[in-house]
Amino acid sequence: MNRFPVIIDCDPGVDDTAALLLASRMEELDIRAITTVAGNVGVDITTANAIKVRHAMGKDIPIYKGADRPMFRQLVTAEEVHGNDGFGGVEYPHEMTNTEIGEEKAWDAIYRIAKESNGELVIIAVGPMTNIGIALSKYNDLPKYIKRIVIMGGAAIGGNVTPSAEFNIYVDPESADMMFCCGVPVYMCGLDVTLKAYLTPEELDEIGALGSFQGKLFRDVMQGGLKKYLEWGFTGVAMHDPAAVLYAADDSIFETHHVGIRVETKGQLTAGKTVTDLYSDKQMEHNAYIVTDVNREAFVNKVKSLMAKF
Ligand code: BDR
Ligand code: CA
Repeated sequence: MNRFPVIIDCDPGVDDTAALLLASRMEELDIRAITTVAGNVGVDITTANAIKVRHAMGKDIPIYKGADRPMFRQLVTAEEVHGNDGFGGVEYPHEMTNTEIGEEKAWDAIYRIAKESNGELVIIAVGPMTNIGIALSKYNDLPKYIKRIVIMGGAAIGGNVTPSAEFNIYVDPESADMMFCCGVPVYMCGLDVTLKAYLTPEELDEIGALGSFQGKLFRDVMQGGLKKYLEWGFTGVAMHDPAAVLYAADDSIFETHHVGIRVETKGQLTAGKTVTDLYSDKQMEHNAYIVTDVNREAFVNKVKSLMAKF
């Protein structure tokens, strides 16, 4: 088993919470830091939620607070799915012993940890990519210290905020495009795959009944999102951020293609679209990888077996 250093850059966020709970149970991931960003809700709330989830993870992982808004735009949030508290309205059931966060800003921590990691660092980014954009702007040599970046964001086809854009990219398209252009291979787990990585109400209930408070938390935070997805006509709730975390650790149940990806930053109707050459005759420079499919049965089994671990 290949264990490698990771930073999880996130905006918890209900599926971010599920992703962090899973990540803490994956032996492949040596989580060096959690960095927070404004996205689903404001950064004070995503950071407060990260502190709760760290307690649930049972690990003293450093947390660094990041950007409170996108680089060049007004912040767009997603309370509709995540609740005003970004935690699906769930009261965290435990008293926390450690509520400290690191003094460094997220982008400075990313650079320092990247330099300390001898070129092995993998960044898993499951919120808007603002912290990465700022880190790249501030530190020209950052790309040479990062092995790869795995993101939840974008889509070759469609969108969930607009018909052409997925939320994490839509919120900060400029930062996302800087990331795609920085020279580090980016692995994009977008809506193409994450809508296929869903859990049904029954599967979520099974996880909630596994016997750990983490399993119950995983189930409970997802209930508001599940309700929305069922209203929208889906069979279950998309496990957007968990898909990226599972992919980073083991891509064997996923389908991946080497492609070109850039982000539209100017279009009125298409701002935030991840333009890919997956389905086009004309090719772009192949700077990235797009994840298009997952064996859902294997995905569900993996999530269940990870959450069953004590
Ligand atoms: C992404 O947007 C957020 O609302 C979720 O946490 C996920 O990262 C899905 O489009
Ligand atoms: Ca997220």
